[in-house]
Amino acid sequence: KGDPRLEAISQAIRVVPHFPKKGIMFQDITTLLLDHKAFQDTVDIFVDRYRNMDISVVAGIEARGFMFGPSIALAIGAKFVPLRKPKKLPGKVICEEYELEYGTDCLEMQVDAVQPGDRALIVDDLVATGGTLSAAIRLLGKRMGAQVVECGCVVGLPEVKGQCRLNGKPVYILVEPR
Ligand code: PRP
Repeated sequence: KGDPRLEAISQAIRVVPHFPKKGIMFQDITTLLLDHKAFQDTVDIFVDRYRNMDISVVAGIEARGFMFGPSIALAIGAKFVPLRKPKKLPGKVICEEYELEYGTDCLEMQVDAVQPGDRALIVDDLVATGGTLSAAIRLLGKRMGAQVVECGCVVGLPEVKGQCRLNGKPVYILVEPR
């Protein structure tokens, strides 16, 4: 809002109708990654917001949270922790389920990656129902005792702003879906 970089970021995201299935307007952030300025601006906006919030861990959600999270983590001096789909991470992991349109899926995190007292930022490309973010918040907060400061997403509906389903954690969104 008021930031001239946001319009260019929005325009850099390609909308693909009926992908991956009929009726879905897929928000394809790969075209944002191809646009150096828009990609840099996206990371910079998050970095400017979070650099003085004493964040100690940035948790990125597979797969597209991995494309933004590490750059933000490096710039603000935080560690990066991947939250992954089941059976990808070795060692001791904890998992939280979330609802899909049909059935459920699960997000896993390695237990030694986060300590109680860590201050966490959760990053993903997009929030739709909020189910995935909600599972991520439970992993870091309820399960590990970290403080979830905020969730940062590139794309999301304005309704999601301010609240994350079930958990009451703030969600910061750069642009709306087109
Ligand atoms: C997409 C997106 C978010 C999630 C948002 O990931 O990148 O992680 O869906 O949906 P929600 O708010 O309704 O939970 P997807 O499930 O396509 O997984 P992928 O990135 O591994 O392809």
